[in-house]
Amino acid sequence: MAEVVLGIETSCDETSAAVLVGRGGKGRPELASLVILSQDVHQVFGGVVPELASRAHLAALPAVVDRALAEAGVVFTAVDAVAVTQGPGLVGALLVGVVYAKALAYAGNRALIGVHHMEGHLFAPAVEDPELEPPFVALLVSGGHTLLLDVPAWGRYRLLGQTRDDAAGEAFDKVATLLGLGYPGGPAIECLATQGDPDRFSFPRPLLDEGFEFSFSGLKTAVLRAVRASGDLERDRPHLARAFQDAVLDVLVTKLERAVRATGCGTAVLGGGVACSRTLTALAAERLRGAARVAVASPRLNADNAAMIARAGWYRLSLGERSNWTLDAQADLPLPGLEVPQPARYASRTS
Ligand code: KG4
Ligand code: ZN
Repeated sequence: MAEVVLGIETSCDETSAAVLVGRGGKGRPELASLVILSQDVHQVFGGVVPELASRAHLAALPAVVDRALAEAGVVFTAVDAVAVTQGPGLVGALLVGVVYAKALAYAGNRALIGVHHMEGHLFAPAVEDPELEPPFVALLVSGGHTLLLDVPAWGRYRLLGQTRDDAAGEAFDKVATLLGLGYPGGPAIECLATQGDPDRFSFPRPLLDEGFEFSFSGLKTAVLRAVRASGDLERDRPHLARAFQDAVLDVLVTKLERAVRATGCGTAVLGGGVACSRTLTALAAERLRGAARVAVASPRLNADNAAMIARAGWYRLSLGERSNWTLDAQADLPLPGLEVPQPARYASRTS
């Protein structure tokens, strides 16, 4: 079993490397270092420009990896395995990480493991909370995905629901643009919403009463109409941000609560960039009180980072899995171990 794993993440606009070190074969690694370099260049364009992201990863990655090794006090010859985000994400950005990881592993004759980005997000709370173990339900909410999973064991992911259109983070980013706020939109909306009156506007809560699926594009259109109808956007902006955030978070937490009740799980994991929202985690904790404990990583580990990739890679390596030299970056990649159960199975457990 690997005792030192170097993680690399370059799927979007964060260049990140991290080192995980085992504690005497207990199988629960400790985070020895984490370096995250956020690419500010995209703020000028109001969104991630893929070609610029790839070039920035290319320029920064060697220094970011060296820094992570130095902060961990580890030389590369002590690294047993390199874990790298294989997908999903921006293919050019992913390619930089994958090629670099392959070169490092090949040259040093180390093990290589490709990691699914969303499995990384799922493992993020386990970096800080080594006792975290399934069964639990997980809500993974990022810029590209909204996944509600029943997790009976690590590596087994039963899909309860996902979004039919926009991801939750994508909705935050698009609405932030409508409101004239910067990128990324989630933190800007959360901040502005603190000054908003919750009763000034009311937006629809799509699919609130139905099952486990999500839909956010209609909500975005409702905000667009309200922005157009506003006679004074300067005055209305915080109230619109508040009403939008309230609608999204109500839908997310209602579905999470439904999943907890349907599965009987005593733990609910929140992960992905949207889980950086303290408003989301506070609402989930309040609504699930008495039913489930909410496990969520600190914001640094919920945003894109290499520690979660190293941790998910650690798990895969512990199963004896290895990638070979044909490992390739993939913009679309199915989550390993994803099962799509029949809806009736959950319906019967609800009663
Ligand atoms: O996981 P992540 O860092 O990148 C992807 O894998 O996509 O998620 C980024 C998303 C962005 O859409 C961003 O607006 C959202 O997470 N986000 C938030 C907050 N912080 C980041 N959304 C709502 N509230 C926040 N505080
Ligand atoms: Zn992510």
